[in-house]
Order: sequence, then C-alpha cells, then structure tokens
Amino acid sequence: MTKTEQYQSLLPQLRALMADEPDPICRMANFCALLHETMHFFWTGFYRVIGDQLVLGPFQGPIACTRIARGRGVCGTAWQEGRTLVVPDVHQFPGHMACSSLSHSEIVVPVHDAQGNICAVLDIDSTDFATFDETDRTFLEEAVCYLNEGTSHIS
Ligand code: SME
Repeated sequence: MTKTEQYQSLLPQLRALMADEPDPICRMANFCALLHETMHFFWTGFYRVIGDQLVLGPFQGPIACTRIARGRGVCGTAWQEGRTLVVPDVHQFPGHMACSSLSHSEIVVPVHDAQGNICAVLDIDSTDFATFDETDRTFLEEAVCYLNEGTSHIS
C-alpha cells in the first residue's frame, strides 16, 4: 500500500472515531493511537495551547518534553507562525528541542478550534530523515479538522 492509500483508508476511521465522543482529550487520545499504530511512527502526539505555552497532551511513544514556549522548537514555531512545518532534518532546525536523540525528522500540524484559533498542535516524529512530505501535510491537515467536528469544542 502506498502512503496515500494508507491515509485514504485511515482518514474515514479517524473521523468515525470522533463521532460519538465529544470530549476533546478523549478524541485526541484515540486519534493519535490509531494514527501511530497504523503509520508506525516513532512518536505521535498533541501539545495543547495553555496560556503562553504548549503543554504535552495525549501521545503515543516515548516520554517527551512537557512544556514548550511559543516560538520555541518546531512545535512552538508552527504555533507562532500558524502553519504546518515539515522538517526533514531536525538537527538543522534552529532551536529544535531534542526530546529524543533518536528523532531525526518531524511534521507539526496546527489544530484549530471552532473559532479558528490554534488550540493544539499535532507533532509526529520519525527516526529516519526526511520521512514527511506534502502527502503527509495534506492528509494530516484534513485529519486534524475531525477533532473539532460535531459536538466537540476543543479549548
Ligand atoms: N521536537 C519537538 C519537541 C517535541 S518532541 O519531539 C515530542 C520540537 O522541537 O518542537
């Protein structure tokens, strides 16, 4: 199966998982569990915007940094700039926070609430270089919209 086919099969499942559960943490928990298990990433998880920091939320993988300042590292920069960041070599990214020395590339996708504000970021790390590309960006940007569908109100 190609990566595109994997995502095409995965997205309806992610969407269905959200349908009967309005709690945002609960949604994030199952979302990253299914994504992680299906795609075999190294680390898959959420950081939630709480005040002026990102705080570690539901995730799958090794323990991680708990708090990230706005503008710091890949996650803090994606939040500050309000856009997805695809980083082929994290060691070249200024201010990258090395939660694990095994992580070599990553993608960070902002998650918006119903008002259009960024309320979290989805962070995915890989032990390979240049794992993520436009395919990941396209499907993951679509997938995070499901977190806020229906009755859930992420805040
Ligand atoms: N690498 C991230 C920090 C979070 S961990 O990778 C889970 C960054 O620089 O934003």
